[in-house]
Amino acid sequence: MADHLAALVAEYGNPEDVIRLARLPRPNLEPGMVEIAVERAAINPSDLIPVTGAYSNRTVLPFVPGFEGVGTVSRIGAGVTGLKSGDRVLPLGASGLWQSYLQRPAEWCFAVPDDLSIEQAATAYVNPMTTLRLIAELKEHFGGNSGLAGRRVAVTAAGSAIGRMLLSTLSAEGADVTAIVRNKTTLARLLALPSLQTCVAGENSSGDRVFDAVVDAVGGDPGGSLLRQNLAPGGMFLQYGALSGVPVAQAAISARPDVRFSFLWLRSFVHSAGRQAISNALAQCFDGIRDGSMASHIAATYPLSRLDEALAHQNAPDRYGKVLLDPRC
Ligand SMILES: NC(=O)c1ccc[n+]([C@@H]2O[C@H](COP(=O)([O-])OP(=O)(O)OC[C@H]3O[C@@H](n4cnc5c(N)ncnc54)[C@H](OP(=O)(O)O)[C@@H]3O)[C@@H](O)[C@H]2O)c1
Repeated sequence: MADHLAALVAEYGNPEDVIRLARLPRPNLEPGMVEIAVERAAINPSDLIPVTGAYSNRTVLPFVPGFEGVGTVSRIGAGVTGLKSGDRVLPLGASGLWQSYLQRPAEWCFAVPDDLSIEQAATAYVNPMTTLRLIAELKEHFGGNSGLAGRRVAVTAAGSAIGRMLLSTLSAEGADVTAIVRNKTTLARLLALPSLQTCVAGENSSGDRVFDAVVDAVGGDPGGSLLRQNLAPGGMFLQYGALSGVPVAQAAISARPDVRFSFLWLRSFVHSAGRQAISNALAQCFDGIRDGSMASHIAATYPLSRLDEALAHQNAPDRYGKVLLDPRC
């Protein structure tokens, strides 16, 4: 079996410095495993964090990054039922999508409907499903299915892929949504969204507005300040990212015993929910893509062989949308 192209991390560090291209062998298939020919993989912030060594206690070197992408089944191991060569699948549950061929246990491969474009299929999992989980957490706090109607909800880093999905989904739930962004170009793009009721620009801050909930991907001082100053008693601060480089400080959390602070990890859900619950969640993600609320804007697609250009684009300050890799070339 010919070798194949892969992005490989053999040491921790700045992703642009330490992720290297390598030719790897295509190992034999163990029983129960499926080989997938990867056709598109996304570059998400959560792919790059482990490369820095931030999760070194649960990462084994060397590894292939990439938690999200789509491909077709190319080989089937003994004992696998329900999948056949040529089936289009999302392989979930572990990194490794930034390579031409990937092996995954059959139970972690999920069918993708044919009507989704290759780009939307490749971005159908991480951000849409995180959005669903965030909405579910908010609803639980605010009393169930109709609990978000009329709630004042702030979304930070609102121009991110998840940010946009949250704006659409929360608006559809009847929430009074405020988008918080850090730059004026993003603000202008968000103001063009028909669903958005309010938009706030400037230095990740929202002045003296008061919210029932803050859904935060920034952390650090901007997140801490929102938690201390802008959250109504009984409200919820739901953190799911730390784009500033650090989470919200414990001092800010301790200063607000009157609100609920929670951190959401998609991986906790995915590794505990079971296959049927994941399938159900994916079906909701696919529907969200079809109606536009969970579709991702695509910035560009690069061959994996030009990974350095793709990573430079990912870090560009004017990037708008997801950067994808085509691992076939
Ligand atoms: N907890 C989980 O399970 C989970 C799952 C998926 C993703 N996440 C997290 O969700 C976040 C967003 O992911 P994504 O894929 O939606 O991101 P994305 O589409 O790549 O967008 C990220 C955007 O966030 C904005 N941003 C970056 N640094 C910022 C800062 N310091 N302050 C304010 N805004 C900043 C930038 O937009 P502008 O240039 O327009 O400001 C940037 O383009 C990431 O932190 C990711 O790790 C968490």
